[in-house]
Amino acid sequence: MTAPTTDGVLVDRYGRVARDLRVSLTDKCNLRCTYCMPAEGLPWLAGSQLLSDDEIVRLVGIAVRQLGITEVRFTGGEPLIRPGLVDIVSAVAALEPRPRISVTTNGLGLERLAPALRAAGLDRVNVSLDTLDRARFTQLTRRDRHADVLAGLAGAVAAGLTPVKVNTVLIRGVNDDEAPALLRFALAHGYELRFIEQMPLDAQHGWDRTTMVTADEILAALAREFTLTPDPAERGAAPAETWLVDGGPARVGVIGSVTRPFCGDCDRTRLTADGQVRACLFATEESDLRGALRAGADDAELARRWRTAMWGKRAGHGIDDPTFLQPARPMSAIGG
Ligand code: GTP
Ligand code: 5AD
Ligand code: SF4
Repeated sequence: MTAPTTDGVLVDRYGRVARDLRVSLTDKCNLRCTYCMPAEGLPWLAGSQLLSDDEIVRLVGIAVRQLGITEVRFTGGEPLIRPGLVDIVSAVAALEPRPRISVTTNGLGLERLAPALRAAGLDRVNVSLDTLDRARFTQLTRRDRHADVLAGLAGAVAAGLTPVKVNTVLIRGVNDDEAPALLRFALAHGYELRFIEQMPLDAQHGWDRTTMVTADEILAALAREFTLTPDPAERGAAPAETWLVDGGPARVGVIGSVTRPFCGDCDRTRLTADGQVRACLFATEESDLRGALRAGADDAELARRWRTAMWGKRAGHGIDDPTFLQPARPMSAIGG
């Protein structure tokens, strides 16, 4: 296979094609999850470093029109704190061909924003919720906002941002006893729950493989209360492996990035809030589209740079390699 030049989709040297663009809209967050960032927060990007709303829409437009992107996911930090979010969604929904548009959020403020986001063209949301217990939530996120997340989930359903998926990270000794209860809760409300293995992407570099709650452990805990059968639906490039719960149609997922990696089927490309393309969550190199854009590059040049960046995507995250190095940016500045 030859390297890309001026035309075509985002392909890498292993033949994977990126169709799914994840755009981080801000590195800031209004929670402080202990497994993500320190209590005092992080040195945030300066305003001038951030892509403007128009710059984001221009780059997403290039991705959709010239690079074959069909799915656009807005992430953060916390994307709902970006003032221009509703306008960005509306502009992206007006692109031809229209991509599917979703947001991954911690749920704060979602109750209020869901109707406007829906009206702007947002298709669906994923909401993070690690515990059903208010005190534990406050301990885990360092903010007493459990009720707001529950209200956000309900607001998303009421606004039609469905299917609503719930993301849970289990931390040993903190919330790892809650897997069956979280699934009962999700089934009762019609949310699709997914458990995520913790990845070495925390700002504090505190990740420890030996204490990570694994996919096998999660499945064993669920199997004590539910009958799980493999989901017959095609998985495609999805990070989540899914099972039917008690015969279906409800499903539960596990995102086993560490013990069940799915890099071979990856179809994702990432744009950070400061306009850098990342070929992978764990990439150590970035390609600066913001600099080129502000220096006057035309769409064809920006598309060419994006293709070149993706061509260099590595085969996998390499967490198991002895030489593995955590990327310089933490999860909250990449967008998950
Ligand atoms: P849906 O398409 O709605 O199912 O979303 P998703 O599961 O692809 O994305 P979401 O934003 O809900 O992220 C869930 C978890 O999957 C987060 O912990 C992400 O960091 C993780 N994730 C998303 N994409 C990748 C990826 O390419 N590699 C790895 N290792 N994890 C990913
Ligand atoms: N590993 C796995 N998932 C993480 N998340 C945040 N940090 C990590 C990590 N180090 C989760 C959040 C949210 C989703 C977008 O990613 O809890 O649910
Ligand atoms: Fe914020 Fe998400 Fe990090 Fe929690 S995990 S602090 S919600 S960016």
